[in-house]
Order: sequence, then structure tokens, then C-alpha cells
Amino acid sequence: MFASRVSRIGVLILKQLSGGKPTSISRAGYNTSSCYNQYLQPLFDQQSETKLLRGAIFHKHHLFSTVSASDSSNEGIEQKEKISVTFVDKDGEEIHIKVPTGMSMLEAAHENDIDLEGACEGSLACSTCHVIVMDMDYYNKLEDPTDEENDMLDLAFGLTETSRLGCQVIAKPELDGIRLAIPAATRNFAVDGYCDELVEHGASVAETPAAVVKKCKYTISMLSDPSAAFSVVFGKDGILEQICAGKGYVDMSTVDADTSTKINKAITAKGGYFLEAPVSGSKKPAEDGQLVILAAGEKALYEEVIPAFNVMGKKSFYLGQVGNGAKMKLVVNMIMGSMINAFSEGLVLAGRSGLDPSVLLDVLDLGGIANPMFRLKGPTMIQGSHSPAFPLKHQQKDMRLALALGDETATSMPVAAAANEAFKKARSMGLGDLDFSAVYEIVKVLEPPPQKS
Ligand code: FES
Repeated sequence: MFASRVSRIGVLILKQLSGGKPTSISRAGYNTSSCYNQYLQPLFDQQSETKLLRGAIFHKHHLFSTVSASDSSNEGIEQKEKISVTFVDKDGEEIHIKVPTGMSMLEAAHENDIDLEGACEGSLACSTCHVIVMDMDYYNKLEDPTDEENDMLDLAFGLTETSRLGCQVIAKPELDGIRLAIPAATRNFAVDGYCDELVEHGASVAETPAAVVKKCKYTISMLSDPSAAFSVVFGKDGILEQICAGKGYVDMSTVDADTSTKINKAITAKGGYFLEAPVSGSKKPAEDGQLVILAAGEKALYEEVIPAFNVMGKKSFYLGQVGNGAKMKLVVNMIMGSMINAFSEGLVLAGRSGLDPSVLLDVLDLGGIANPMFRLKGPTMIQGSHSPAFPLKHQQKDMRLALALGDETATSMPVAAAANEAFKKARSMGLGDLDFSAVYEIVKVLEPPPQKS
């Protein structure tokens, strides 16, 4: 249970392996950072990259300051370009401010010394800028949240129907008079008791990835996607700020080879060692320490972290140069995604042909295509239960990355492409947070039962 909770929230697990010293865990909510990607150049040095992100944020602030200053010569225009916003803090105290149109509520809060954290500075890598719009009319005037914002909102503490991320709410004239409540707490692992549980088992807690690297010889992360992996390495207080000669970084996220290669380049440029090590297996194998680990990169680091891999997995493979682990994982997940679609179609076809789908499961389990995935997921799929072990949105992301690898290598993959479309359809129907087996529901919808004559 613990392992699954940790992986669900994309928590960074950073473990010191040497000398039996305590494990350290980053408390910061680092996760996806899609905005960050737009600043990421194909070739860069890692220090300038970090500065680039900060520079972009500074530029935004500066831009707003400039607008405000130039408007000061014209009171009428200035009044017109600012809206009234009320923040209601954790104690119910109201703070009334004026916010220039175009400015985010996070920036406005910071400029007015209002206690709204915003740990990732608006790069959609945390949920610490969570605000609650107090009036539904105002909530309905906001742009719909993007997928990235929704992903982060899922992690917010005390989520409500009118929750938004303050860094994504931009002042505009229609929002004049909006009232925003600041939740009693932002989500961090201490709030949810994650850290408490870990600390009880001997862990110690650090506030940021950089703080963990500073303290530990080896740091291990397992994150949701490429932008999350980038954010933890290149973002503020990220891995790069403390990695140096003698320290190793192991990224167990499922990402594309290009992402791993860029991270490897940045880590090694600072003298550190890097290993990519995505895993095959989701919730149950993780709980049972039965993952399959697909490592590539620095061989010496691989050999040093084998004791940790042996706790998490039943088998580790060393696959050579960085990128090979990522490619192997994508191939495995591409096959898995295609299989679950074929399996779904078989279950639907059996049912509509007058056969008992549960008997089909028994037949499959005794034949040459018997496998743990059909055995595990078949019964719950028939019941229409798709409790997330591996969220469908992540499976679709892996299909997308695998198809991109197919493009690069001129590999025709019509089966995977069709499976990807089914996963996309499932996401569009709001099934992205369910288990990837929920694609079964799409097959049912796409193939309505024949009309009786
Ligand atoms: S400040 Fe991190 S998502 Fe808004």
C-alpha cells in the first residue's frame, strides 16, 4: 500500500545507500512542469538552463512592473487595468488588493506579501499555489484548467469543486471582485502523513531535491513523466544544484531516451554519475518488491546500487548506454497497451456472442497466451472496476512515446497506433485517472450491441 501511495503522487524517493545512514525524502511537490519545457533547449549546459527558467519568471515580473510604471502617468488607465481581488487567509482574515490584468494570482499574492507558497514559481510542478474560488459565478468565468493543471490539482490538499492553481488564474476585467480562499494547508508529505510513516521506518526528510543530494551519496527518483523528470533535475532547488563528483543520481521514471540523454549530459557535466532505471511492473509488483528494473548508463553506479534494486525488484538488467533502458521500457509498455486492447475486444466479443467472459478467462489462462496481466485484470474488468494501478493517462503517454520511437526508427506499428487512439478516446471521456484497463469501457462504447429486428 505504501509503495502505491508513493508512486501515485509522484513522490520523489531519494535514498542514501551507504553505511546504513537514514533515507532522505524530498518533501517538495515536484512533478510535471510543462511550462518548463518551452525553455528547454535541445543542447544546453545545465547551469544556464536553470538560470533560463528563473530568467523567464523574472521577465514576467519585470514586464508587469513596467506596465504598471508606464501607466502611473494616467490614473484613469491604471484604474481600468487593475481589478479588485480579495484573498481570505487560513484564519479567515480578508486581504484586499488591486491586481493588474494579465498578472497571475500567485504573482499578485507574492507582491502583496500574502502567504501563498507557489514552490515551483508557476511552472506547474507543485500544487502549493492552490486557491479556492469562493463564488461559483467567478469560477465559471475562468478558462478551463489544462490537463497539466488538473494533474497538479489532483495532488492539492483539501481539493474542492472550485479549486484552481493560483499561478494559472490570470487577472482579467470579468474577475473584478473575485474572492480567493487560501486552504488551511498545502499538500506536502508531512500533511498527508507520508513522511511520518517513512520517518517511523528510519527515514529523514529534506525539503528539496537539492537538499537530499547534498546529504546523500546516491539519490533515486521515480516520477510520472519527462517534464517531471526535467523539473526535478533542472528546476529551482533541483538535483543539479548539488550534484558533484562522487555523487550518483538514479532516475527510475519512464521517459523517452532523449530525456534520459539530456539528464545524463547535465549530471555528468557536473562530475556526477547517472543511471536511468525505469521499471516494468506497477502497483502490485511494487508492493511485493517484484519489479523488473531496466538500467542503463554508468556501470559502476549500477553495481553500487544493486542492493537497492534487489529490494525493489526481482530482476535487474544492465542494458548499456543511457537511453537503452528508456527504449526497453517503452517497447514493453507499447506491447502491454496493445495487449490490453486486444484483450478488451475479446471480452466484449465473447459477451456479445453469447459466451461467458469469465469462462473465456479460464480458457485463456490454460493456453499459450496465459499471462499475469490477463489473470489479474480480467475479473475486475468484467465487473467494470478499474481502480488505478497504472493510470490510463500514463499508459497513453507511453504509447505516444513508443510511437515517436517508431517514427525515429521507421518502424510501422499500426496495432500500437490503433491502441493509442483507444487510450486517447478513453482520456477524452474522462477515464485518464482510472487504470489503463478502463480502455475496456471504450471498446464497449465503440461497439454497440446489434439492434434486435
Ligand atoms: S506555483 Fe507550482 S503549480 Fe502553481
